[in-house]
Parts: sequence; C-alpha cells; structure tokens
Amino acid sequence: MSTVVAVGAQWGDEGKGKIVDWLSPQAQLVVRYHGGNNAGHTVVVEGEQTILHVTPAGILNPDTVNLIGPGVVVDPVVLLGELDKLKQRGILRDPARVRLSGRAHLILPWHTALDKAREEAARGRAIGTTGRGIGPTYEDKVARRGIRVADLLQPKDLRAAIDRVAKLKNFELVEFYSWDPIDPDALYEQALEWGRQLEPYIDHTERVLERALREGKNVLFEGAQGTFLDIDHGTYPYVTSSNCVAGAVCAGAGIGPTRIDCVIGISKAYTTRVGGGPFPTEETGELGERLRQAGAEFGATTGRPRRCGWLDAVVLREAATVNGLTQLAINKLDVLSGMPEIKIATAYRVKGKLTQEFPMTLGEVEQAEPVYETYPGWEENITDCRRFEDLPDNARSYIERIESLVDVPVALISVGAARDATITRAEPFAPR
Ligand code: IMP
Repeated sequence: MSTVVAVGAQWGDEGKGKIVDWLSPQAQLVVRYHGGNNAGHTVVVEGEQTILHVTPAGILNPDTVNLIGPGVVVDPVVLLGELDKLKQRGILRDPARVRLSGRAHLILPWHTALDKAREEAARGRAIGTTGRGIGPTYEDKVARRGIRVADLLQPKDLRAAIDRVAKLKNFELVEFYSWDPIDPDALYEQALEWGRQLEPYIDHTERVLERALREGKNVLFEGAQGTFLDIDHGTYPYVTSSNCVAGAVCAGAGIGPTRIDCVIGISKAYTTRVGGGPFPTEETGELGERLRQAGAEFGATTGRPRRCGWLDAVVLREAATVNGLTQLAINKLDVLSGMPEIKIATAYRVKGKLTQEFPMTLGEVEQAEPVYETYPGWEENITDCRRFEDLPDNARSYIERIESLVDVPVALISVGAARDATITRAEPFAPR
C-alpha cells in the first residue's frame, strides 16, 4: 500500500491532470480533497483532450475509483454535466466509479451570483476569481450555514435550509449589489432533481478510503490550484478560498497525516499565473508572449490568457517546505526548446536586501525583484525523449540545477501533452 499526494507547487495550472492521469493506473483510488470547479484539469489520451473540473482525473483509467471528498465544494449542475459527458463517451459506465461525499458543500446559484457581483463591484481591486462561486461557498461552510450534498436527499430539511439561507443571500444580492434575487421555490425543485440524479454517487467517502487503505490499495490524492493560491500560505488576498497544500488532504479527505507516504510537487519548467496578485518573475513583454504561445497558456476553466515568466526557485523552495515535498514533477520542459537562454530566479532583492526566502507580506512580494541565474538553452525537439539520458545535455543540466536549488529530487519530467510523453526517474508509488 502506498499513498501519494500530487500538489501544485506554483499558482495552479502546473499540469496536475496530466501527472494524475499518468500515475492513476497504479492507483486503485484517486481522491479530490479541496476546491471545486475553479479547477480545470486537462488530460490528453490518444489525441483526445478531456478537461475535468470536478471529477478526479483517475476517471480516464477504467480501473480506478474516484472520490470527491468532504473538503470539495460541488456545483451540482457542473458535476452532473461532467458525469453525463463521461457517460456519453462510454468512459463512465458504473456509478460505483465515482463516489461523492455527502458532506461536501454545495455551490448554489447565489454563490456564483455573489462571486460575480463582488468581483464586478471591486473593479481595480478584484481578485480575478474564476466566477464559479468558490469563495462564497466556503464562507457559508465556515459560517455553519452551508447546504451539503446529503441534504439533497432530505426534502423537509432541505426546504427549511433553502428558505433560511435565501433570505440572507437575497438581501445581499438585491440590497447591496442590485442584482436579481434567487427564487427559493425554483431552487428547491431543482435541488430535489439534483438529489435524484446524484443519489447513486453519494457515499460516505471516508469509509471507502479507509477500506481501500486497509486492503493495501494505492491511493492518489489529486490537488487542485497550487501552493501560492492557498488561503493561508498563498499571496493573500489574491488566493482561492481553500487550503491547497498537501496537509489539506487530511481534513479534506479524512486521512491521518501518518498515512501519507509521498508528496509530489508539480511545477512547470517555467511559471504562470491567472488572475490578480504578485508574480515576481512575470515577463510582460515578448518573452512572456512566447511562453504563452509555445505553452498554449490559456485557462482551462475561463479561457483567460495566463501571465507567464521564468521558473522561480524561491517559490519552489517555499512549496517544498510547506508541503513537505518528497519529489518534484517538472512539466512542459518541451516548451523551453529553442530558447537561446533560460533563467531561474534563485533569490529576491526586497528593498535592497537579498533574500533566499519567500517574503511574509504581500507588499514585500510585490516589491520583490528576482535575482536570476542564466543557463544555455537547447535547440532539439525533446517530445520523443522517454529516458533522462535521451535529453540534450543542457536540458539535463537545467533539471539537475532545479534539484539542487530546491533540494528535492525530480521524479517525473513531462515533455509533451500526450499521456506517454513522460520521463520517469523515480516511481512515486514505489513501496517504502
Ligand atoms: P477562485 O478560486 O475562483 O475564488 O479564484 C481565486 C484565485 O485563484 C484567482 O486568481 C483565480 O484565477 C485562481 N484560481 C482558482 N482556481 C484556479 C486554477 O485551477 N488554476 C489557476 N488559478 C486558479
């Protein structure tokens, strides 16, 4: 038995979907533990692209059971739409392959409306959220007035909860933001229908997980977003509303920290960010555009162009610390092919002072000037390389430099979008 947590080491979009899909044939269970359909995990199998927003990426591997844990926030319309598409494509035949926690909180229409209304009202200070209602849903969860998946199966309690919460939500929507109210009667009818459709999937996922561990199965935990979007460890307030770090697995899935074997941090070979907030190595000119085009850096959820820049070892070192990374996966190394030179930020200068550490406050991160090391690039197309030795010397040196700067071994290297365009140097699921 082995458990692996795959966690984003940057600002999300690191290619976690590809790595989870690559690892999932070795896992009997793939588990999402936080976030919601703000995530967009892109997987390419035999030339066909699938973007998953809620369902764990293990669904594309026919033998994997996929859990949506209690720490996830679930938009029932989005989940049902995703499941329908997977059914139509013949990928999901048995509801037993998707287990949805009855304790997961529901993203309801007032959450998406409030998310959008607030962003619109914030104008220059907007977070740049995905507009999927994530923040307002987690707020209600913490305020102990959230409505959960299992409530969909209790009509009387559901009706009372909807009526209670609707008063407050509609007050904010109408009086504060001049938006249209949500009709509680229509929502109740809709919610009953969601309950009917979701019932075959609803389960006590902690029990499913516990059983799998007892039976010695391999479990893969699929992180969403990334370390620097974490509500506590990210560039607050330009963050998402959940804990994204590896530790969130324990609360969000229901597993003790003693049972985690491997934490693999996923990073691109460069850096991207969507939405607002500081990004020390951002390149706003020609170079940023080149990375965006070469890496097809447009959001899988919102289609927004991603901000692009060089790899930042200060960021990766911080990610290694707060997640306890035991391995790294470096994605999209192929995107750097043809660059005459490549840079990595090894430190920052903040108010004239050199630091190796990620600063504590937003103001300091905003002022951080990256200090770069520059390396020679490589010309060769590397998408067919399958062994580390197949890579050009300069690409190998680049990977080795990342390892020494972050002090974490690089286990996986992705050299293309396709499932098999991956170099394995160490197996995350190796028995310990
Ligand atoms: P929210 O999660 O929609 O509230 O958005 C908060 C911040 O997190 C915004 O900057 C979003 O762009 C960012 N964000 C949320 N989900 C993702 C993701 O899956 N990838 C990258 N950025 C994300």
